[in-house]
Amino acid sequence: MPRVFVLNGVNLGTLGTRRPEVYGTMTLDDIERLIRAEFPDLDFEFRQTDFEGEMVGFIREAADSDGLVVNAGAWTHYSYALHDALETLDIPKVEVHISNVHRREQWRRHSVISPSVDAVIAGMGVYGYIAAVRFVVERSGD
Ligand code: DQA
Repeated sequence: MPRVFVLNGVNLGTLGTRRPEVYGTMTLDDIERLIRAEFPDLDFEFRQTDFEGEMVGFIREAADSDGLVVNAGAWTHYSYALHDALETLDIPKVEVHISNVHRREQWRRHSVISPSVDAVIAGMGVYGYIAAVRFVVERSGD
């Protein structure tokens, strides 16, 4: 059974109540249920943390899995530590953003982690996670 890591970073544990006009009303638990229901044949590691070092540990753990989907939250825009952790992984990797970061504040338009992943999804809401999982699973079979 392919094993896929879905990692959510800082402040994503507050989905559901955090700026619903931007991020929607689903909680992270709702999103996890949605993803598991969509892919019953995959073995998921679904994690969230507000601690950057813990996120680095999760990324390292994903090294021997079949794919990684990561929403790094605000770390996206400045964490070279996450960039460096991600670039060492030789598995399919997708960066996801629920909102269209390019239509928001200027500082959100730049991601320091994008060079270390295979693909980037922004603005598709929670569907972005589904698309990302589908992509990594198809890629890992190549
Ligand atoms: C986000 C976009 C980031 O700019 C923001 O800091 C987040 C969420 C998104 O999913 O749209 O925390 O990654």
